[in-house]
Amino acid sequence: MNKARLFILCAAIAVVTVAVAQTQSYKLGRPATAEEIRERDISVAPDGSGLPVGHGTVTQGRHDYQTLCGNCHGDRGQGMLQYPALVGGQGTLRGKNPVKTVGSYWPYATTVWDFIHRTMPYARPGSLTPDETYAVTAFILYLNGIVGEKAELNKTTLPRVKMPNRDGFVGDPRPDVAAKKAGK
Ligand code: HEC
Repeated sequence: MNKARLFILCAAIAVVTVAVAQTQSYKLGRPATAEEIRERDISVAPDGSGLPVGHGTVTQGRHDYQTLCGNCHGDRGQGMLQYPALVGGQGTLRGKNPVKTVGSYWPYATTVWDFIHRTMPYARPGSLTPDETYAVTAFILYLNGIVGEKAELNKTTLPRVKMPNRDGFVGDPRPDVAAKKAGK
């Protein structure tokens, strides 16, 4: 067999092998159940879609925060050791020493909620109930002067919270991204 024929034969074998591999079932695993998908489907978008039912006040949050968060982030959210501050820094972003916190940097209260719910406390991510998450979020926003002491957060009130740095981010300048957003 000459080299060209050998090459064509090998290529044909490769194509057939890939085709077989793609149709073959290895009988491993099983489809996820609706319940399993629901458990993992926890994303909350900036507009608040995905937020679960539940609620939390600043007062509840003060208690939950001191129990679950304060030993790393400080009792007033000031940050400790290597753990980041959650409070303060407003008005510093354009200066020489920008201090990025929930209060100074984050554009949406809804995505703060999402971050806390999926990642905190650091050693037990995903362990907070929706109520606890609304409560600690309320307390952190209160410490930052963004909501009042009587605030209660839930899936309706949280998306209405306007964060100080909401308009501080620049849009993605790539032309195709802008076109996609405009639905073109
Ligand atoms: C064991 C220490 C620890 C505990 C307890 C803890 N955190 Fe954190 N937290 C961290 C660390 C470390 C980071 C930085 C994680 C990163 O950047 O990936 C962080 C980041 C955060 C951030 C994002 C800060 C930013 O601006 O990027 C928020 C908000 C937050 N934590 C809230 C909480 C809340 C609310 C609790 C309690 C329910 C909590 N944390 C408990 C260690 C902790």
